[in-house]
Amino acid sequence: MPIKRWPMKKNTTGKQQPFLTRRAFLRSSAAAGLGAALAAGALGEDAPNQMQGASTDSRDSDHSPGDLRVALIGAGEQGRVLIESCLRIPGIRIVAVCDIWEYSRQYASGYLRKYGQPVTLYENYRELLAKEKGLDAAIVATPDWVHAEQANACLEAGLHVYCEKEMSNSLDKARSMVETARRTGRLLQIGHQRRSNPRYLHAIDRLIRERRVLGRVNLAYAQWNRSKADMLGWPKKYTLDATILERYGYGSMTEFRNWRWYKKYGGGPIVDLGSHQIDLFAWVFGTNPSSVVASGGVDTYKGREWFDNVMAIFEFETAQGAARAFYQVQTTTKHGGFYETFMGDDGSLVISEVAQRGNWAMREAHAPEWDSLVKEGLLLSEASAIQKVDTRNVFVDVRVTAEAGRWPLPVDLAKPAHQPHLENFFGAVRNGTPLGCPAELAYESAVAVLKVNDAVRSRNLIRFRPGEFRA
Ligand SMILES: NC(=O)c1ccc[n+]([C@@H]2O[C@H](COP(=O)([O-])OP(=O)(O)OC[C@H]3O[C@@H](n4cnc5c(N)ncnc54)[C@H](O)[C@@H]3O)[C@@H](O)[C@H]2O)c1
Repeated sequence: MPIKRWPMKKNTTGKQQPFLTRRAFLRSSAAAGLGAALAAGALGEDAPNQMQGASTDSRDSDHSPGDLRVALIGAGEQGRVLIESCLRIPGIRIVAVCDIWEYSRQYASGYLRKYGQPVTLYENYRELLAKEKGLDAAIVATPDWVHAEQANACLEAGLHVYCEKEMSNSLDKARSMVETARRTGRLLQIGHQRRSNPRYLHAIDRLIRERRVLGRVNLAYAQWNRSKADMLGWPKKYTLDATILERYGYGSMTEFRNWRWYKKYGGGPIVDLGSHQIDLFAWVFGTNPSSVVASGGVDTYKGREWFDNVMAIFEFETAQGAARAFYQVQTTTKHGGFYETFMGDDGSLVISEVAQRGNWAMREAHAPEWDSLVKEGLLLSEASAIQKVDTRNVFVDVRVTAEAGRWPLPVDLAKPAHQPHLENFFGAVRNGTPLGCPAELAYESAVAVLKVNDAVRSRNLIRFRPGEFRA
């Protein structure tokens, strides 16, 4: 099995590059009062071997009394993305990082130290919870199979928790998270970040649900297509000792690095990627699905355990009648990338986390005019985005080829995609404002998503039982 070379983030000159530019950080750190903490020349290379000995007792570090003190458990790819967003949010201080892998510990601590946030490092989250005093919250960004164990322990320790999606690879474990949050009275936000994205809130809450701009929405389509890719590798000098792998339940380095593809640790591409988008169907239709049928298989990547492609159809019984949603995840083509489309009898709307792939509504010719929506600022005018098709030397039948006009959404996101969801979480911790994706809601989504794998396996239509979505 080919092993991909260890990926390093590099700039065009090939030099390693921090994700957050110094200028961007200075803007956010000025707001957070952290600018002085930046030592001159502290920014530069990101190589883990430059970060040896970065561990510092966070309690000695420079911070304001009003800061929220946060622990990060799991500092892999997504943990680092969340660190970057946290650095942009005033008053958030990551003081401790836990990861079983030295590479990730060093990477995260070195990165945070450059931005004036020295952290204490831990291999084991239990030790972190026992030793760290005065924590307010924890971010859990480990592989799905340990979310429940770690989030539950943090909640029991009195912390509010932001836990990455999918909340778990098992519905029993996901339910235990809802129950623990309920019992402890702590907040548990799950990382379905579209739930706090202002463009999605505008599109789904304002345009589709409140103003019914698309008329009756009875169809949805979403996809996440990716190119063919080898398994992830690792720098050999950071190979985990067999005793550490065994201590934390991993069968091998290959499984540890590629946990998504193995049944013990994750749910495969449909759970990894579909969880973001299948979650939106219930948000748009205002109800959970009544059934799912799906097809998929391990067609390309022999030796991987989870289906490398899945096509699923959900049925919904909405207050306005039947609705259907088709979802596909492909891992051998990036055709079309990732986006979601919602279709009603008066129009449709295409949206994506990446605005270039979807950020507009299209009106059916018979539908009421949208001029008033433009005047109210709910949509931008059609003329600003209409795509002119060059028809010279082409016989065009305008009845079938005329391009529908596009009304772009006026809301953009000038922040990293996860920042609003983290801001929403920290806002809830500070002020008691509602969570964008509380555990109960994420559980409903997890039921719909995890059942797709059952549907592929059984080759049968699966009907959801009434009450099945309640934890
Ligand atoms: N919201 C999003 O857009 C998004 C995007 C990517 C990943 N995710 C989610 O984030 C989580 C992590 O994904 P990733 O891509 O960063 O994976 P990853 O493999 O890159 O990182 C996982 C990290 O967790 C560490 N780890 C593994 N087991 C551990 C344990 N028992 N205790 C402490 N540390 C442990 C690993 O050493 C590694 O550093 C997953 O749940 C994934 O679904 C969410």
